[in-house]
Amino acid sequence: MKRIGLLTSGGDAPGMNAAIRAVVRTAIYYGMEVYGIERGYAGLMNEELYKMEMRSVSNIVQCGGTKLRTARCLEMLTKEGQQRAADTIKKYGIEGLVVIGGDGSFRGAKVLSEEYGIPTIGIPGTIDNDLEYTDYTLGFDTAVNTCLDIINKLRDTMTSHERICVVEVMGRHCGDIALYSGIASGAEIIVVPEIRFDLDEIVAKINKSRSNGKHSNIIVVAEGVTSADQFAKNLQAITPYSVRPTCIGHVQRGGSPSMADRMLAAQFGNKAVRLLKEGKGNRVVGIRDNKIIDMDIIEAVSMKKTFNYELYETLQMISM
Ligand code: F6P
Repeated sequence: MKRIGLLTSGGDAPGMNAAIRAVVRTAIYYGMEVYGIERGYAGLMNEELYKMEMRSVSNIVQCGGTKLRTARCLEMLTKEGQQRAADTIKKYGIEGLVVIGGDGSFRGAKVLSEEYGIPTIGIPGTIDNDLEYTDYTLGFDTAVNTCLDIINKLRDTMTSHERICVVEVMGRHCGDIALYSGIASGAEIIVVPEIRFDLDEIVAKINKSRSNGKHSNIIVVAEGVTSADQFAKNLQAITPYSVRPTCIGHVQRGGSPSMADRMLAAQFGNKAVRLLKEGKGNRVVGIRDNKIIDMDIIEAVSMKKTFNYELYETLQMISM
């Protein structure tokens, strides 16, 4: 394989730049050319691409966002859009494609592989950690650390005022950001899409903690359930304690990637190019039990994300 393409697609995630760097450098190591495609599938359809060199990826390993920029491209769901994307790939002599993105981006990659015969490798890049086949997605660790930083600060002021804080985190339909940031921040309660919640039970838990000497409470709510504003309003109506909502929002998607995300990026990017070099396509890379793995893309996108109930129980037992 002589020439590969590379794009980032969907919501950006910390570590995407480090993965871009790993892909470009590995490809150059193997004597391949790399075309960086800007703005995801939209840029692919509009021929927004350029040849990347060794120095194109200097000084980006530590940067959040994505140098190639990204987009959510609805046109990639249409036959016409898919054909235009495939046409660009053929026109520029691109023999293999690396797509860094989440579930939706992988579906586009699957079409290019399956229907247009373009060997494509997916790198899981999303803060949501919502892909079942991999233990972690790129960006999740940094996003959770950002949440922790904010929750730590909230804890200071909530303790001073003896308040209840409701913190809304991202994650789309997946509760992993709430679960991990809830456990690691010492939150008493997490509310996630995977588990039904009962406001009266939450109030009872808060009352118990107050009678046990606690002066403030932290509740982490996943955006897939409700907003911090709404949850705080409902809670304030039935508790005498003062409640304040905070929505962390897009801060979670930015920032310098953590060590864990940089390590994933280096290994995912390297593995993706090695697979193309071996003539493999139609695959995704991931990490399972601390080992870098690859898997058929069709199988990977058809797996349903499972929730870690054991971790949830751990939180129930240690946070009160
Ligand atoms: O998929 C990443 C994510 O940040 C989700 O957690 C969130 O629901 C969504 O993207 C927000 O999307 P946008 O940046 O388009 O508002």
